Order: sequence, then structure tokens, then C-alpha cells
Amino acid sequence: MSKVGIFGAGWVGVVTGACFADLGHSVVVRDVASERIEPLQKGKLPFHEPQLAELVERNRERLTFTLDPAEAAGDAEFLYVAVGTPATYAGDANLSYVWSVLDDLPELTGRPILVMKSTVPVGTGEKVRAALDARGLEHVGYASNPEFLAEGSAVGDFMRPDRIVIGAFESAAGDRVEELHAKLEAPVVRVDVASAEMIKMAANAFLMTRISFINEIANVCELVGADVQEVARGIGLDHRLGPHFLKAGIGYGGSCFPKDASALKQLASNSGYHFQLLSAVIEVNELQKRRVVAKLQKHLGKLRGKRIALLGLSFKPNTDDMREAPSIVLASRLLAEGADVRGWDPVASPGELLNGVEITETVAAAVRDVDAAVIVTEWEELRALASEETRASMRNPLIVDGRNLLDPAATRAAGFAYEGIGRPTSPLDGRPETAEPERELA
Ligand code: UDX
Repeated sequence: MSKVGIFGAGWVGVVTGACFADLGHSVVVRDVASERIEPLQKGKLPFHEPQLAELVERNRERLTFTLDPAEAAGDAEFLYVAVGTPATYAGDANLSYVWSVLDDLPELTGRPILVMKSTVPVGTGEKVRAALDARGLEHVGYASNPEFLAEGSAVGDFMRPDRIVIGAFESAAGDRVEELHAKLEAPVVRVDVASAEMIKMAANAFLMTRISFINEIANVCELVGADVQEVARGIGLDHRLGPHFLKAGIGYGGSCFPKDASALKQLASNSGYHFQLLSAVIEVNELQKRRVVAKLQKHLGKLRGKRIALLGLSFKPNTDDMREAPSIVLASRLLAEGADVRGWDPVASPGELLNGVEITETVAAAVRDVDAAVIVTEWEELRALASEETRASMRNPLIVDGRNLLDPAATRAAGFAYEGIGRPTSPLDGRPETAEPERELA
């Protein structure tokens, strides 16, 4: 069993640390922020992630948290970097937290390997290698081992990965990182450092491309009367395409996709290449978030003074993460149109991100006397939204289902006007299948 120091007690760092501890390794997670470390030392998570609290509790003996870099790095064989790499104002990845990990490293007497878990632009490994050498740390190895964890299912994603990607400058360092994962059953992809970095960026970009693609298909479906859910099912059965990431909705958000798309676009552009397709993927996503406003206007006319409930505020279910959540764009667009906006989420506390939005404790309180309810995030609790009780309490029974969570026929049968994404529109707005031929004047 190995000793692992992890720098960064964010979501990736804590998941990685807890999972390595569960595999039997001895782990110390270090962060600069006491508001993160102190709750963790008491066994409390500073964010919501299913299964993680149990894992932290179960491995208390092998998993500790500290503010002291020397405690994490002291005799560690692996120094994992799991700090944030947010976008800079220019859209590139901001690597300042990565550099501060290097600055904070104590004197290292053993032969540890610095392992990059954070998503970084291609070329970062080379730079970190040079920086280590410049500091007299030639004896410290370097490897890239990108994370493919999705929030809400991160523990399962770590323990049962589709693949483990390891990029190293020297195969001995790659071998040691591979050994660290020996208990996991998954194909190991051994590549050079630049390719490992690109695998992560390309995988995310491809997932986003699928989402923007199906969202555009959905938008066309609305115009021609097809149902995108059925279309996605039919596409997904083709083994060359597969069923995943074909859920149409109001766009992707989160801590990874938006910033990683921007980082790859800028990386290409800084290298002299205009990544057209990725630019379109990003633009489609921006427009997709705003389409709900037009759907509301179609039914309600001007939104000034109308009351709208946004149901689900986190960027996706099973997380309290509000980063780049479509709810933020939607709320600000609706407020700008003069609507009164209410918001409900079972776990997220949006705080200042949703200034001007009245946050309610329950779905029932959110929908009382509203002109429309918008499903922004597909929380399970919202499956039962189209009830008699909801209808009676709304001022106008309109549901805009931004995640195609509800069954359109059942929702309409329950007395609601229903608008999904890429599905036939509510009969309230039914149109003849073909336009009437214009009469010719004699
Ligand atoms: C993602 C990647 O999946 C993960 O591999 C990477 O390491 C980090 O980024 P995450 O951001 O947690 O993980 O969420 P994910 O489940 O991938 O969803 C991202 C966004 O896409 C969400 O806003 C979700 O609502 C949206 N989405 C996803 C769709 O709109 N349609 C889909 O079919 C799938």
C-alpha cells in the first residue's frame, strides 16, 4: 500500500483521496482553505456528493486532512495535484493554483511522483517538469492521470472507471501510477503526457458536442413535429453512436464543461488553429439556455409582472453545485424581462448568484400563484409535479419542462399546458400539419 498526498480538497481531491483510502492507501489531503479542511477534519463534507460521506467515515484511519503542505508531502510516494483550473478572463485555463502547489512543496528527500489530476491544457506537463527541474527537484517524477468523474456519481466513476489514463515522461513513473490503481478493474491507457492531457480535453469536448448536437436536433424537431426523445432512442441503438449524452435540454453547465470547452478553444487558437466546431458547440449551448424565455412568452405574452417558478437550481441533479448552472442565466433573463422569479432546489443554496430571486423551501411554496413552472434541473422530486394539487395552486397551469422529465400526454391530461424540449408542443398551440394553400385571386 502506498502513501498519497493530495493537494486540493475540492470535489476532485476529496473524492480521489477517499477512494484511494478505500483501496487501502494511506492518504493526506491538503488545502489552503481552513473553511474546507476544518469540516473535513470533523468528518463533514463541504459539498454534496452521494456515497462520499460514508467513504470518508469508513476510512478515517487512513484518510486525514491538513492545512500543512509538509504533512501531505512529507514521505508521500505520490503527490496528486487536484486544484481548480478555472478560466482566466481570456478564456485560457488559469494555472495559478497549480503553480502555488509547486511553491508550497517542502524539501523532498524521497523519489515521489507528482501526478496531475486537474484538467490542464496540453503542454502543462512539460512546463511543470521544467519548473521541477529548475527547483532542483529532478528526482521527483511526473505523470498525468486525468479525472473522468461526474458529479453525483463520482465515487462509482472512480471505483469502476471506463479507463485509467496515464501519461508519463518515463515509463517507470507510469508503472508506479498504474500499480497504485492495481485493485481497479479497467483498461489502462498508457500514453505520453501531451496525449493524456489531450484525451481529457477531447473527451469533454466530444461529450459537449453530443449535447449541443441533440439540442439542435430538438430545436428542429419542434419545428417539424418530431419527438427528440424518440429520435435519441433511435439514434442511440446504433452501436457506432451509443445512447449516452443524447438528452436534449436547456444546455450543459457545471464546473468542467464550460471552462474546459473554452480552454480547448483557446489552446487551439493560441496554437494558430480556429476550432470551428467547438465554437459552434459553445454558442449553441448559450442560446439553448435562453430558449425557455421564448417558450414562456409564447404562452404568456410579455413577462413583465408574471410570476415564474424555477424548479431545480443546481447545474444537474444530485449535486449542490451552482457553477455555470443554466438557472443563473435563466433567472437573470427573466428578471430582465420584468418577471417575478421564485426558485427551489432540494440541496443547492444559490446565495448571491440568484440575487433578486425568492428562494422557497418547498416545491409547493415555489409554484403557489405562479404563471408558469419551469423544470430547470431534473431532480427526482419533480417527477410528481403535474398533480391536482399543483394545478390548483398555480395561477396559470403552464409547465415548461427544460429536461423532458415529465410525460407530455399525462401532464396535459392532468390539465396543464406543457412545453418540453424538442417534443410536439402543447395542443394549446397546435398548428395544422401543412399550411392551407393560399387562394389564388381570380
Ligand atoms: C463532466 C464529465 O462527465 C466528467 O467526465 C468530467 O470529468 C467533468 O465534467 P459533470 O460536469 O459532473 O462531469 O457532469 P455531467 O454529468 O457530465 O453533465 C454535464 C452537463 O451536461 C450537465 O449540465 C447536464 O445536465 C448536461 N447534460 C448531460 C445534458 O444536457 N444532456 C446529456 O445527455 C448529458
